Amino acid sequence: MTYARLLATGSYLPERSLSNADLEKMVDTNDAWITARTGIKKRHIIAEGQGTVDLAENAARAALEAAGMEASELDLIVLATTTPDNPFPSTACLLQQRLGVHGFPAFDIQAVCSGFIYALSTADSFIRAGNAKKVLVVGAESLSRLVDWTDRGTCVLFGDGAGAVILEASEEPGILSTHLHADGRYYDHLAVNGQLSGGEVKDGAGYISMRGNEVFKFAVNNMSQAVLEALAKNDLNKEDIDWLVPHQANQRIINAVGKKLKLSADQVIMTVAEHGNTSAASVPLALDTGIRDGRIQRGQTLVLEAMGGGFTWGSAILVY
Ligand code: ACO
Repeated sequence: MTYARLLATGSYLPERSLSNADLEKMVDTNDAWITARTGIKKRHIIAEGQGTVDLAENAARAALEAAGMEASELDLIVLATTTPDNPFPSTACLLQQRLGVHGFPAFDIQAVCSGFIYALSTADSFIRAGNAKKVLVVGAESLSRLVDWTDRGTCVLFGDGAGAVILEASEEPGILSTHLHADGRYYDHLAVNGQLSGGEVKDGAGYISMRGNEVFKFAVNNMSQAVLEALAKNDLNKEDIDWLVPHQANQRIINAVGKKLKLSADQVIMTVAEHGNTSAASVPLALDTGIRDGRIQRGQTLVLEAMGGGFTWGSAILVY
């Protein structure tokens, strides 16, 4: 049987960061409120002139270096983003050009904060079907460009960044299963409602709008369910999880999911304080952190989960 095995990871955060104290000067908020409600301490903001592809390239190069691989060995790029640099071409194609390679398929996936899980699942399917052997999967976002910096209800939450993984076809266990879901009935709970036409945003606003309380409840339930689904599919129990690598939206959401799964805090990779919610970049950023600081070890069982606008949500279970 062919598995998609996780070879290496990389990540990148833009240089400029915005602390809670910085936000206090912009909107009516304070560090105590943001910390207590979200656990976020700072978020990184893309520089003017930088694009999502710049973030993606830095993360991808870090992953390639960690894998000891050249980009020419890849045969697929799947890139998850909600904030492509252009309506087209895809950011995946821009990234392919940056990496100096061409010919093999490269495409974007848009599933907002679940984008990385969707991209990982897609790459896994390509590998299992024998249609790819070495795949670069990236989550990259410049969400700060969709944030209304006068709306204290949303501007404290989001930030920019990128994470990348390299998957390789292997006979050794890697990704055991992935589980994707969507429910478009909730399309308006978390959205950017504007439409692009004639070179301008029309019929709505170009900023994130969110029903925070409702999103919170759905996030806890849906992500916990997705983890249980992954365990059940593989005849595993909660005790078999070595690490939960959750979507980094809010410390309270992560804690609530961990509690439902009866995991101790030191089995959960938590990086949200450092970068806020980076949407599709959040899971690979956390994964890269856990692997590079040595907590996540080869042979351990990891569960990844995420939920985002759409709603979309999902999980992946893998042996590292
Ligand atoms: N600073 C200070 N006060 C604030 C701020 C702020 N930045 N934002 C809101 N408040 C106020 C509100 O106006 C309200 O005041 P009021 O009681 O006088 O009306 C009070 O704080 C409480 O507001 P709530 O919205 O009830 O606060 P809550 O505890 O629900 O926290 C939050 C809000 C953090 C947005 C929470 O609902 C949340 O995290 N939701 C999930 C959102 C999310 O993660 N979205 C990301 C995308 S989806 C995903 O990634 C899973």
